[in-house]
Amino acid sequence: MQQQKNWSEYWQKEGEGGDVFVTADGSKQLQLQAFWQKIFEHHKPTSVLDIASGAGAVFSNLESTEQYHLVATDISVDALVRQRQRVDGVQTVVCDAANISLGNAQFDLVVSQFGIEYAGPEAFSETARLLKPAGSLTLLCHFMGGYIVSSALKQELAGAQLCQQTGFIEKAKQLVVAMSTGEKRTVHQAMDVFTEVEPVLAKYCAKVPEGIHSHLYNGFKQLMIKRQHYDQQDIISWLENVQGEVDKCILRLSEMCQAALTQQHIDDIKQRLTNAGLRDIQAEPFYLPKYQLPVAWHIHAKGSKK
Ligand SMILES: C[S@@+](CC[C@H](N)C(=O)[O-])C[C@H]1O[C@@H](n2cnc3c(N)ncnc32)[C@H](O)[C@@H]1O
Repeated sequence: MQQQKNWSEYWQKEGEGGDVFVTADGSKQLQLQAFWQKIFEHHKPTSVLDIASGAGAVFSNLESTEQYHLVATDISVDALVRQRQRVDGVQTVVCDAANISLGNAQFDLVVSQFGIEYAGPEAFSETARLLKPAGSLTLLCHFMGGYIVSSALKQELAGAQLCQQTGFIEKAKQLVVAMSTGEKRTVHQAMDVFTEVEPVLAKYCAKVPEGIHSHLYNGFKQLMIKRQHYDQQDIISWLENVQGEVDKCILRLSEMCQAALTQQHIDDIKQRLTNAGLRDIQAEPFYLPKYQLPVAWHIHAKGSKK
């Protein structure tokens, strides 16, 4: 399954920090941490399920895990391996969020942060099956038009697409090959072609310094500066490897943008949760102080018990 493969590769390589939504310097979003701590303090659950949990972005906010029975599910086994290293005592289950291989009515609290929406609408109905009648549901889901989708992801995605559209990698490879021939004319020709696209990526790196485009641009620049220390084939292999990274990055970021929920999706989800017997269902934009746009939809509901 391509989706599963992409996420597993992400968790093997890029997801080292463990949380997908972090600050510009890569550290935890403290207000998000405070949000989850409050949810746990308020509901005082014993058993908690985190759906599409990644490497433990929610459970890693808990100062102590001893008093809880924590279960994390994700489609990626690699995410859950990382989660077990990060969260003491967590039980993990690899499964699709729309078809969770756990019994009915087991959890006091069911949560998900930027995860359940990747599995489509069925996954929201599944939450009601897993929740105890007196339990609670708290979800933070990608907000279409919100900060993550409109700013962070779109900029990173545009950078990756620019690598592809400019043909930067192919032109860089041609330049490396031309340089190895030592023929002035061939080098000049390759250089002319390369200098058509180099400033385009340079300009974008100055505007958006983080992302695969910047890794490509700055990495290749360094390799060119120190090229006498490298084999031609090593540079070509590095460029081909980055090409693979660019392709995967485009797939994963496009998937993240597609997972974002509109008001219409929210209305459908509320209806599903109602049909599944949940009560007090609410959904509102969720803001963090640093960002002007909403960061997520905050969806919450109570179990079926009156
Ligand atoms: C944006 S990450 C969020 C991870 C984590 N909750 C966090 O906040 O860091 C999305 C997660 O959803 C998982 N995922 C994607 N599609 C899924 C599906 N159909 N079922 C279950 N998990 C899925 C991915 O493996 C990934 O870990």
